[in-house]
Amino acid sequence: MHMNSLAALALVAPASALLRFGCSQLVVERLDPLVNPGSNPSPHLHQIIGGDAFNVTMDAEAGDIAEKAACTTCQFTEDFSNYWTAVLFFKARNGTYQRVPQIPNVGFEGQTGGMTVYYMQDGLANYEQTSKVTAFKTGFRMLVGEAAYRTKEQANRFRQITYTCLQDMGTRFPESMDFPKEPCPAGIMANVRFPTCWDGKNLDSPDHMSHMSYPELGTFESGGPCPESHPVRVPQLMYETIWDTSKYNDPELWPEDGSQPFVWSMDDTTGFGSHGDYMFGWKDDSLQRAMDSPCYVNCPTLKTQSVEEMNKCSVPNTVDENFDGWLDALPGGRTGEKA
Ligand SMILES: *[C@@H]1O[C@H](CO)[C@@H](O)[C@H](O)[C@H]1NC(C)=O
Ligand SMILES: *[C@@H]1O[C@H](CO)[C@@H](O)[C@H](O)[C@H]1NC(C)=O
Repeated sequence: MHMNSLAALALVAPASALLRFGCSQLVVERLDPLVNPGSNPSPHLHQIIGGDAFNVTMDAEAGDIAEKAACTTCQFTEDFSNYWTAVLFFKARNGTYQRVPQIPNVGFEGQTGGMTVYYMQDGLANYEQTSKVTAFKTGFRMLVGEAAYRTKEQANRFRQITYTCLQDMGTRFPESMDFPKEPCPAGIMANVRFPTCWDGKNLDSPDHMSHMSYPELGTFESGGPCPESHPVRVPQLMYETIWDTSKYNDPELWPEDGSQPFVWSMDDTTGFGSHGDYMFGWKDDSLQRAMDSPCYVNCPTLKTQSVEEMNKCSVPNTVDENFDGWLDALPGGRTGEKA
């Protein structure tokens, strides 16, 4: 019965949606309305993209961000979600830090900083994209990764939070769980993939993670089933952030002890603390509509805006601090010394 209805659905409506789009920088600042709501500043620096309703507090009382936002830095104009990660710094031999610039993916030229965002029904290599997914609901939010992790054993809790050492802008493998150990000619791409099974009830949870789960068997890519506790299969959300580390590739600039010189804003030199935050903010049913329509990357059911329009949307930095130039410490006072 179940199989029959699925087969019938596949015959009637081949739903193949994979959204891949660019979003320019909205702001870089020390706020984290998911993990540290109300705290200005939050402990470490973030880079944020998406709708301009981004703020220090974004709880239910602050309202639906898709209604509050007036613009978005994303290519699809119905997407007022906010997406953020930590910020990458280079640490010089003399102990000072410089923020590493972000650059867009191939095909998104002109976009200022930001990221590439994906919503997938099946693994990236599956051009059919036939598995049904349920879009996130208004007020939904989640976190993946743990900023305090510094070992592979810890980071194994998460799947697919990785780095790609870009030999050129088209490099896509291999991926590593820790920072690349050698200079990467075209930069370092940080990849964050979120879990794909939702408990179907909670828009958030105390750790911002336990309302989500990985598939019970296999993986999202292999079509693994969701566990009974988290039965609702949602799109796989993925971020790609390209950090242009190319100007730091001179071996003379790298540490003399042979270690690599990059450090996340939460003072992580391992790379195992990488994390991504998500606040859903698609207008009305636009995400479900897009996921139910046959489209691969270019989705005519969604309205798009130009790169110029994307770049125009921003919010002022509400935390009064400088993080450009050579810094004596990471924003928030972290000097790289072990506590
Ligand atoms: C951010 O929140 C403050 C109140 O905490 C409010 O005054 C301000 O308008 C909000 N900004 C946006 C862009 O929603
Ligand atoms: C520290 O090192 C960087 C990179 O080599 C250099 O540009 C900067 O001027 C140095 N700062 C000081 C205070 O020496």
